[in-house]
Amino acid sequence: VTPAGVVVCGALGRMGRRILALCHADPELRLAGATVRPGSPQAGSQVHGVTLREDLPAAATGADVIIDFTTPVHAIGAARLAADAGVALVVGTTGLGADAHAALEAAAQRVPVVWAPNMSVGVNLLAALVDRASRALGAGWDAEIVELHHRHKRDAPSGTALALAEAAARARGLDPHAARRSVRDGDVGARPDGEIGVMALRGGDVVGEHTVFFLGGGERLELTHRATDRDVFARGALRAARWAVGRPPGLYGMREVLGLE
Ligand SMILES: NC(=O)c1ccc[n+]([C@@H]2O[C@H](COP(=O)([O-])OP(=O)(O)OC[C@H]3O[C@@H](n4cnc5c(N)ncnc54)[C@H](OP(=O)(O)O)[C@@H]3O)[C@@H](O)[C@H]2O)c1
Repeated sequence: VTPAGVVVCGALGRMGRRILALCHADPELRLAGATVRPGSPQAGSQVHGVTLREDLPAAATGADVIIDFTTPVHAIGAARLAADAGVALVVGTTGLGADAHAALEAAAQRVPVVWAPNMSVGVNLLAALVDRASRALGAGWDAEIVELHHRHKRDAPSGTALALAEAAARARGLDPHAARRSVRDGDVGARPDGEIGVMALRGGDVVGEHTVFFLGGGERLELTHRATDRDVFARGALRAARWAVGRPPGLYGMREVLGLE
């Protein structure tokens, strides 16, 4: 089997560096290209045998799959390019707005696209457990989510926390957008039924922690995931890349990639 050619966008970012290194070491994958932000002083230098380019179309020539862990604006461009070039796309970038989600959906009409705000096995299993717990416990138990990340993280709450809130909301028939409450400050009054608090803490070098609380009368359940190493996300992204190449066009998540029920 010919190894699939991978292009890593934002190759000098926290995630990009790890994806590049693990891709280089993966016998089922071939590092086909890598990009850095236009104007980066590192442009033109070599890492793991590939040249860091400022231009994604040039980097993606002859590739099978593009991996994007950058910014929402960049993810939109990567989606358009993947669709035009007929190349599969794996997006881990979070904080996507409606425009970026629309760009992924448009690309998914033409190529396989995997988008997941968290590519770790543990968090994807956590989402399935949250769905089950929320369904079983029902409206009498208040659901609240707290997430903790390193000081450099740009978006809040985390994409993972939003996905967990969505799982908890849908399982009890709530509209995820209407149910979410991410600010409580001042005289906010008693907690309304059907609200799901999603609170973000930032600091230090924390890779990522999420706790989903189900708070009942006289008892509570806490489901926690702690990532201690970014490689869990990088390995998930590479697994998604191997899985996506050769699939029919469509928008997929880690549920499909990992084969979770
Ligand atoms: N799905 C998951 O499992 C998962 C896990 C971890 C993180 N993430 C998400 O992945 C994203 C990146 O996170 P990170 O911690 O790696 O951030 P980061 O360290 O800031 O890395 C992002 C990289 O993208 C580069 N970049 C920005 N615009 C670019 C462009 N136009 N062309 C090429 N490169 C460009 C940045 O370059 P400059 O620094 O030069 O601007 C930077 O090196 C975030 O949205 C984060 O939430 C997802």
